[in-house]
Amino acid sequence: DTDVLIDKFGRVARDLRISITEKCSLRCTYCMPEEGLPVIPAADLLSTEEIVRVVGIGVDRLGIREVRFTGGEPLMRKDLEKIISGCAERVPGIPLAMTTNAVGLEHRAQQLAAAGLTRVNVSLDSVDRAHFAELTRRDRLPSVLAGIHAAARVGLAPLKVNAVLMRETLSGAAELLHWCVDAGVELRFIEQMPLDADHTWARENMVTAEELLTVLGTRFTLTAIGRDDPSAPAEEWKIDGGPATVGIIASVTRSFCADCDRTRMTAEGTIRSCLFSDREVDLRAALRSGGGDDEIADLWRGAMWNKWAGHGIAAEGFVPPERSMGAIGG
Ligand code: GTP
Ligand code: 5AD
Ligand code: SF4
Repeated sequence: DTDVLIDKFGRVARDLRISITEKCSLRCTYCMPEEGLPVIPAADLLSTEEIVRVVGIGVDRLGIREVRFTGGEPLMRKDLEKIISGCAERVPGIPLAMTTNAVGLEHRAQQLAAAGLTRVNVSLDSVDRAHFAELTRRDRLPSVLAGIHAAARVGLAPLKVNAVLMRETLSGAAELLHWCVDAGVELRFIEQMPLDADHTWARENMVTAEELLTVLGTRFTLTAIGRDDPSAPAEEWKIDGGPATVGIIASVTRSFCADCDRTRMTAEGTIRSCLFSDREVDLRAALRSGGGDDEIADLWRGAMWNKWAGHGIAAEGFVPPERSMGAIGG
């Protein structure tokens, strides 16, 4: 099959991650600057119809098998339900997932599930209200927890919680894990990558997977069970004999780039072959100047062919990308 998104190293991208906005209701220190990101003019964002068209091309012509909506915060778009239902109609059978902070999700979970959303991953770093407010610069923990419960209730499953590892949250890691086990959702800890807007990340300050395992090991018996599938970012551990598990996404100390199956599109309609790309390929101009599906597919294939081997975070002379996480979309 030549009509897939394959790169020079032979990796095939089947997982499309689309950022649909740079806006967010929170201001997590490892992701967004205090004042938020510069606003993208509305006319520069891909419209509902444009997003649906790109998804259709990805699935019909390029072998995309799963689509995930990210941001910023996807719930900041009022047309999110329309985007989901448009995609569900256009590419039936393709899983449509969302990575969200869950603020306000409580009021939209039902409609999103009805529109065709299949599952959600929720970013949550602490279940302590004061601590949450400090980390996110917003006092919205109750809304997040209500959002998680609402999503589970309407069948957006399996629901996973993502927590970025930070010095400040390490002491609350066991408490967060207890909360997730009780709520019946899977928790995954993520090593922090140099994608903060303030560029303050430093390898010697980051909390590693190994350090976390030592901390959790004092409270739980963890048994390594590996990855769900080779391209999954998380490695799984069974907790106290199971069935509950905890995942660790060790992007920095145990990078998984060799098995990467991801392709990304920004809210402005550019393709990034990697979180850490230094180049983007614009699809929007082609979409808006009457470009046919063949032309769009060719541009996308070209962008992915040039994907590099890996992020090189640990290498000498590493330069973080210009865009921060909030402008790429996890
Ligand atoms: P599942 O299909 O539910 O496993 O989703 P996912 O883990 O692919 O998606 P999610 O948006 O929940 O990603 C969780 C975290 O994994 C992100 O916030 C990133 O920190 C990390 N991650 C996801 N994709 C990549 C990637 O391609 N490269 C690296 N280095 N990290 C990634
Ligand atoms: N490193 C790793 N993960 C990050 N996220 C945000 N910033 C970073 C970072 N610097 C994660 C959030 C969320 C997803 C969108 O990206 O926790 O789960
Ligand atoms: Fe894939 Fe780039 Fe992430 Fe590595 S850093 S896993 S190559 S997107």
